[in-house]
Amino acid sequence: MSLMGFLDRIADVSAVDKAMEPARRAVQGMPSAVKDVLHGTWLGHPLHPVLVQVPVGSWVSAGLLDAVPRLRPAATVLIGAGVAAAVPAALSGAADWSEQGTGVRRLGALHAVLNTAALGLYVGSLVARGAGRGGLGRLLSYGGLGLAGSSAAIGGHMSYAQSSGASHAATAVRALSTDWLDLGPLDDLPEGRPAMRSGKGGSMAVPLAVIRRSGRVDVFVAACSHLSGPLDEGTVETVRGSECLVCPWHGSAFDLDNGEPRRGPAANPQEKLEVRMEAGHVMARVPSRHR
Ligand code: FES
Repeated sequence: MSLMGFLDRIADVSAVDKAMEPARRAVQGMPSAVKDVLHGTWLGHPLHPVLVQVPVGSWVSAGLLDAVPRLRPAATVLIGAGVAAAVPAALSGAADWSEQGTGVRRLGALHAVLNTAALGLYVGSLVARGAGRGGLGRLLSYGGLGLAGSSAAIGGHMSYAQSSGASHAATAVRALSTDWLDLGPLDDLPEGRPAMRSGKGGSMAVPLAVIRRSGRVDVFVAACSHLSGPLDEGTVETVRGSECLVCPWHGSAFDLDNGEPRRGPAANPQEKLEVRMEAGHVMARVPSRHR
């Protein structure tokens, strides 16, 4: 069985669902402003993959330095830096995990258990090194590195195979024709709420959310960047001072002017199309970065 097949089997194990739920509820109970910081909504990019670079880089580097006796004091400093940096990385991962689908949460739980075990070994390593037991310290830290590496592979599977943290809107927009699309008469659009229109794709129609407000029209890919929720069924609301399109699934809010997330759990922007009017019809086209 391939590694991917093995991890997919784990993602199918429903027996852990009940045990995970209290942790999920606890994370979801955090204030939404705190969660948005942890998601990376303010950055317009998921924060977790940014933060994990510090512990992973520190611990891998420490492993190399530990192989050279005179460099071992530096390895200890790096292990301490990795332990400190692991805390915010874990918090941002937990915030993302709590808003993911079932299969991602199951693998995410294993990812968290391995990371916690790795962190425990590294803390033990620091204690052992501080007590002058360098051999034991190195043994514990290499054990931690093995666990952290295995956990990183699971995190990679969650990102690449399960699209956790990826922009689902970016995937949808690539299916659209790169020509100007006729979305019908402006006069047919309701005022101040999204309407669904179909954009021509290669072999299928791609749902679009079209919003008419005060004489202007904004067109977005309807699949929410977070988990593909139907933005054409969402609402237009003022969120944190910006007029936003709000997803009906988990409440992410995207600025109507530019698609930037103003409220999570989305951290990626929503794909917005170029718009022009032609003979009273709304015409839309994918932005040049996708053509
Ligand atoms: S799908 Fe989760 S906020 Fe839209």
